[in-house]
Order: sequence, then C-alpha cells, then structure tokens
Amino acid sequence: MSNMAEYPVEHRVDELFAAAKAVQKNAYAPYSHFPVGAAILTPSGRIHAGCNVENAAYPVGACAEAGAIAAMVAAGETAISVILTICDSIEVGTCCGGCRQRVREFATADTLIYACGPDGVRAVFTMEQLLPTSFGPENLNGFVS
Ligand code: THU
Repeated sequence: MSNMAEYPVEHRVDELFAAAKAVQKNAYAPYSHFPVGAAILTPSGRIHAGCNVENAAYPVGACAEAGAIAAMVAAGETAISVILTICDSIEVGTCCGGCRQRVREFATADTLIYACGPDGVRAVFTMEQLLPTSFGPENLNGFVS
C-alpha cells in the first residue's frame, strides 16, 4: 500500500485496495492457485467486492470482477465509478477480455480500472483504454424493449 497517496482522494484507492485484498484471501482457486480480488466503487459511494470462484469443470469458474459485479447488482446498484483488482502476478495483471466487457456494461468511457499487485497500484486505465470502441447497452437502443 505504498503508493495510494499518488491517486485522487475521491477514487478511494486505499479503501478499494483494502477491500480487494481482504476478499482475495477468500478466493476459491484450487486449480490455478491464482487468487484474485476485485472491489467496485459506485457513484453512491458504496464499495462491493468479489473474488474468483473456480470449478472442477474449469470453464464454469468465475472471475473476481464477475463476483464484485454480482454483489453490486444484488445490492441494487448498476454503475461503476472505479474498479480495482489485485492479484499476485509478477507482471501487471489487468482484467481479462471477458471481464472488460462485463465491466463495460456498467461503466462509462471514463470509468477507472486500477490493476494492483500485493504492494499497491501497478497501473491505472480508463474503460476506453482497456476496451476501445466497445459494444454496450446503448447500441441496443431501439432494437430491444
Ligand atoms: N481471473 C480473475 O479473477 N480476473 C481476471 O481478470 C483474470 C483472471 C482469475 C480466473 C482464474 O480463476 C484465475 O484468475 C487464473 O486465470
């Protein structure tokens, strides 16, 4: 947590990091041995967290971001201001492609995505940087009711 002060206080990176690190400890990752934690800050100021949950039928496993999004939606919220993930990768570990689209559903182009290692933030991106020219709910306007 050495570099939290580098980021704007309203991003609440220290709190998101603490929440993601706490939930990472509960990750169910007996196959990959790669625990991941994710924490979401919503416009209301609430924080929702999730961890990866693997399965003996490997493709059925869920990423940490999916868990955090499920917790957010279950709590009645549908907008992401900031999402922070933490993993123990030596290289910077960003959201997988599928999770970029999962986050996109509840994001704006300016939604912030912090990628952390055990000691702090390694990189920060906007949604637009991680998934440019993406497909989202507004693309379906007029096509579904
Ligand atoms: N994983 C996540 O939870 N989030 C990501 O964005 C990347 C990968 C999980 C899935 C799997 O349980 C483990 O990390 C190894 O891929």
